[in-house]
Amino acid sequence: MFNKIAQHYDMIMQPFDYNDLVDYLDDLIIGAGGDRTNVFDLGCGTSEELIYFRQLGYEVSGLDFSREMIEISKYKHPGVDFIEADMINFKTKKKFDNVISCFDTINYITDKKKLSKCFASTNKAMNKGGVFLFDFNTVFGLINEWEGVRIEETEQFFISYDSEFNYNNLILECKMKFFIKEEDDKYASFDETHYERGYTSEEIKELLKLNGFKLVKLLPFLKRKATKDTKLDRYQAVAVKIKEI
Ligand SMILES: C[S@@+](CC[C@H](N)C(=O)[O-])C[C@H]1O[C@@H](n2cnc3c(N)ncnc32)[C@H](O)[C@@H]1O
Repeated sequence: MFNKIAQHYDMIMQPFDYNDLVDYLDDLIIGAGGDRTNVFDLGCGTSEELIYFRQLGYEVSGLDFSREMIEISKYKHPGVDFIEADMINFKTKKKFDNVISCFDTINYITDKKKLSKCFASTNKAMNKGGVFLFDFNTVFGLINEWEGVRIEETEQFFISYDSEFNYNNLILECKMKFFIKEEDDKYASFDETHYERGYTSEEIKELLKLNGFKLVKLLPFLKRKATKDTKLDRYQAVAVKIKEI
């Protein structure tokens, strides 16, 4: 997972404005009482978001279990410390003030107990009072947005997504076929199957509390105001580390 896709990831994500995302996350950090000191990126992928955090004055570093992703991150950010590790169970040499995890990375942990371990490792990697930001797909979102077949097509690529949601374990299996345009109108083609577990806001709140965090805000993804609407595809969680565990 995330190995074949790595070298094409930035191109596939091109329609998305990472500068806007980082402005949003920076606002949430400052709003939660944090500082523009440093940020550690869980599931950093190609670390596009870290470009904009650096522009705002943050020191950056990240972690990913895909060697291909880490190599791209190191190439983009020479001299920056990147860890190749599983976010379920990791250790850092120093403690951070801010930790982020972007684009439903949290959902790739498909077992609730393992997500709890990830939050425990995150607690240990942070200073007290530090801000932990992550977005996650809800059960509703995986069914509503992803189930079935859909395609995405641009000048440069064609992707088909064939997804099935398992109502027993709340895991979505998404079979993707990629066709990436190369020179001479030829295409590179490869498949990847991804698994995401949908989480409810109650589960996230419970796991954060268990691991020394307080959930201070739960927002619709990319929005700055909370809503009473419970049918949301994706949430942005803003948590603060309140105790050591
Ligand atoms: C959806 S991508 C997000 C990448 C990047 N943060 C972004 O916003 O564009 C998810 C990333 O999380 C990584 N990942 C998924 N599960 C992981 C795990 N258990 N440990 C470490 N990295 C993981 C994948 O390799 C991938 O790079």
